[in-house]
Amino acid sequence: MTQRIAIVTGGSRGLGKNAALKLAERGTGIILTYNSQRQEAEKVVSEIELKGVKAVALQLNVAESNTFADFVKEVKAQLKDVWQRDSFDYLLNNAGTGIDVLFAETSEAQFDEMMRIHLKGPFFLTQQLLPLMKNGGRILNVSSGLARFALPGKAAYAMMKGAMEVLTRYQAKELGERGISVNIIAPGAIETDFGGGVVRDNEQMNRAIASQTALGRVGLPDDIGDAIAALLSDELRWMNAQRIEVSGGMFL
Ligand SMILES: NC(=O)c1ccc[n+]([C@@H]2O[C@H](COP(=O)([O-])OP(=O)(O)OC[C@H]3O[C@@H](n4cnc5c(N)ncnc54)[C@H](OP(=O)(O)O)[C@@H]3O)[C@@H](O)[C@H]2O)c1
Repeated sequence: MTQRIAIVTGGSRGLGKNAALKLAERGTGIILTYNSQRQEAEKVVSEIELKGVKAVALQLNVAESNTFADFVKEVKAQLKDVWQRDSFDYLLNNAGTGIDVLFAETSEAQFDEMMRIHLKGPFFLTQQLLPLMKNGGRILNVSSGLARFALPGKAAYAMMKGAMEVLTRYQAKELGERGISVNIIAPGAIETDFGGGVVRDNEQMNRAIASQTALGRVGLPDDIGDAIAALLSDELRWMNAQRIEVSGGMFL
């Protein structure tokens, strides 16, 4: 079997980093992207290479769709140079930042930023990468538990995730003819740098979330990285157009 190759956006830290490492452990070659943390991204590449798997890190700001054509060219060049391939297999649309501002106080600039990062970015990035995706490939989008339950301050962020859940079904419908399946994982609150690391670093917040989670703790990056690797495994090839919440049972 030829080696699989995954593109992981936002692979320099947090969930994307963890997923890249878990996919690499299964022998998947990795093209990961970073926005500002080049050194962190290079460290992830080194960690993957220590596992005997090839990886490269490319800069990408998902909020800037005018750069996607050049990014796709770079991906094409790396596929050829590093893997002697002209296609990749998996796309994980993971990159992004959060926001904490009430609906009544959200500015147009904040709304637009969330829209560009979490909706327009993955929409057009996926569209532009499609010609390089192998028939039978897999797309995994990333939503949030916040698209199912509502917490104050998350409206502009969560609504874009909700829109990604709808887009996932449309992509699955239209890309099925190429054998491409499309699903979306919705993590609960996970201890990463996200939102200034509040879930990890604010003890009160951490305990409050744990108390509302059936399994009694907040999530860890390993919980999501393992889930992503499993969701992209051949065993789950028949799963399509699904939202899979991986939250330990938050706010049931
Ligand atoms: N952590 C949670 O509780 C949680 C829960 C549900 C869903 N999620 C979702 O999971 C995904 C990853 O979150 P995380 O917890 O891993 O966050 P994180 O630890 O803050 O890492 C964010 C990653 O995204 C990249 N990134 C940020 N803004 C970007 C932009 N404009 N363009 C391209 N890349 C960008 C960062 O790159 P640099 O390192 O270069 O800055 C980094 O690799 C996000 O989509 C988030 O909405 C997170």
